[in-house]
This record gives sequence, structure tokens and C-alpha cells, in this order.
Amino acid sequence: MSTFTEITLSVNNKKHVINVEERRILADALRQDCGLTGTHLGCEHGVCGSCTVLVDGQPVRSCLMFACQAEGKEVRTVEGLAKNDKLHPLQQSFIDHHGLQCGFCTPGFLMLIVGVVESEPALTDDEIIEAISSNLCRCTGYQNIIKAVRAALPEMRG
Ligand code: FES
Ligand code: FES
Repeated sequence: MSTFTEITLSVNNKKHVINVEERRILADALRQDCGLTGTHLGCEHGVCGSCTVLVDGQPVRSCLMFACQAEGKEVRTVEGLAKNDKLHPLQQSFIDHHGLQCGFCTPGFLMLIVGVVESEPALTDDEIIEAISSNLCRCTGYQNIIKAVRAALPEMRG
């Protein structure tokens, strides 16, 4: 028998009171209970990184975390990156440098990079590029993603 519980998720500074099975993963809660479908599910077992979101500022694979575990923490998803209709510098750089093709992996890359840069400001550009090797893209061959990241780093740090 399934056990449901009411939890409150804080996502992009907005509260969502939702009723979920205790085994519901955070990615499904974000997509299906909070209506935030920008977080994508690829492998669903922690390999591809498409589902990456920030939990208390740290990149997390939301297919490997239960929604209940995120209660009381601040979750950020790709929907929270743009401010006042202005894209985040990293989003703009992905457009400018053709860092995406189908776009399926893009939200995961964006959240991973934002989380790494914000939480580890002392990392060098090369170390940040190394950190994003944990995410997979089936389309781009990675070179344009790396170009986009390198181009956005000065503004992100500034
Ligand atoms: Fe979570 Fe692939 S869907 S790591
Ligand atoms: Fe298609 Fe990365 S742009 S998977």
C-alpha cells in the first residue's frame, strides 16, 4: 500500500504544497506536482545529468533524491534562471555559441554550471569544464557547450 504525505517544496522562491508518495523522486514532483517541466529526465538512474537542479545551492541529480528529502531546502530549477524576462548570461551564451541542438540536456548543463560557479568561485575555467564532464549530451559533441561556458564565465563571476 502506498503512503502519501503532504510536503512543502520551496522552488525558485515559491512554495508548493503537494501530496506525494514517500518514494516519489524530486524530478517527478517538480515536473508533475509543481508543473515545472524544464527539468528533464533521461536515464533516471544518475548517469546523464539531465535532471540536475540545485538544492541549497548544490547541483543534485533530482532522479536520485526523494521529494521528501528536499522539504525545508531551497530548490532552484532552470525556470528560475531568467530574471525579469532577461535570460541568465549562461542561457544567452548557449544561444550565442550554439551550445544546444535538441536541448534535452541543456537544463541539466545550465543548472550544473550555475551551481558549480556559484558554490566554488575559486575554480579555474579548466576546472569548471572538467566538472561538467559529468553530464551527457547526445547531440553537440560538447565543443560548443564548452565555448558557451567559457564565454559566460566572466559575466557570471562579475
Ligand atoms: Fe537523472 Fe539521468 S535522469 S541522471
Ligand atoms: Fe541534444 Fe544535448 S543538445 S542531448
